[in-house]
Amino acid sequence: MSNPNRQSVIIKGVGSYAPPKVVTNDDLSKVVETSDEWIRTRTGIRERRIAADNETTSDMAAKAAQEAILNAGISPQDIDLVIVATVTPDMPFPNTACFVQAKLGLRKVPAFDVEAACSGFLYALDVAEGMLRTGRYRNALVIGAEKLSSITNWQDRTTCVLFGDGAGAVVLSVVDEPGVGILNTMLGADGSETGILCVPGGGSASPSTVETIERSLHYIQMQGNQVFKIAVRVMCNSATEILNSTGYTADDVSLVIPHQANNRIIEALAQRLEIGLERFKINLDRYGNTSAASIPIALAEAHRNGRMKKGDLVLMVAFGGGLTWAASLIKWQ
Ligand code: UT7
Repeated sequence: MSNPNRQSVIIKGVGSYAPPKVVTNDDLSKVVETSDEWIRTRTGIRERRIAADNETTSDMAAKAAQEAILNAGISPQDIDLVIVATVTPDMPFPNTACFVQAKLGLRKVPAFDVEAACSGFLYALDVAEGMLRTGRYRNALVIGAEKLSSITNWQDRTTCVLFGDGAGAVVLSVVDEPGVGILNTMLGADGSETGILCVPGGGSASPSTVETIERSLHYIQMQGNQVFKIAVRVMCNSATEILNSTGYTADDVSLVIPHQANNRIIEALAQRLEIGLERFKINLDRYGNTSAASIPIALAEAHRNGRMKKGDLVLMVAFGGGLTWAASLIKWQ
């Protein structure tokens, strides 16, 4: 029998997928009253990827997952568990993970979605780690995938310039070595602020009708200013808490992978944590905010660019609708 205290859960493989279609700020300025200058200076975004009309969240998730499985050096048949974090499932049900399982020809393993908006990937990571630690599963596929273009109001300049589509995935595996991989993950939520970032229509509270559609209730609605202020505070708090919980300090961190929502949020976080921006992975300029996909896309890109080496401390920190927040500290393997 293996001893769970002497085991760790590591990120064994990473992958990502972004649809080929690039939409620049100038492209958007032809659709709504905005400008490249406004979008760049207020957010840091230059362009975003937009999925094809017939391309689903599970299509993108499956492509990212395929790359992660290949990168992990395992076979699809070795996957014991599939979790997809998304706010843009292919359908209200069945869950997106079931579509992914079928598309990849995986075994009939548990497959389900986690919804915690932009914090979703780290929530899913924590759920998967817990399940792996029971000893009943060895390799989990954890995916963040979004087709935010499907819930974006392309006539609302205050939101449509912010979001993009894509997917990122990791293979989590149990290894018989203590103190490596995921050192800790901390999650939080404040349900008193559900209204400042939401899609109000289409659920049981307000099922889709001609009227809800006419009132654009099936699109993302956000009070950007309020979200911004809370985001800086809670991301900073959760990053600090996770460092304290593991006995590390900001100086020990090699790379921060923050949720990519706004450069100004990331800059404020860097300043408060006293971690130089050169130790942050930022790709918001090319993808915009891809919600649950943002951290795993950035992680896969950082890996591809050789930004993590064995033993490096990687801090991932997210914030999103709910409100939800999460941080995870990893010793890279
Ligand atoms: O991933 C989940 C978490 N989400 C976030 O973290 C998003 C957090 N919030 C933000 O990133 C920022 O609040 C925004 C980028 C959404 C907005 O930036 P802001 O500096 O808070 O701008 P604002 O909403 O206060 O708007 C300033 C002005 C307004 O005009 P007035 O009222 O001052 O005349 C807006 O109407 O900018 C106007 N505006 C625009 N102008 C040109 C808003 N959107 C646009 C636009 N182009 N796209």
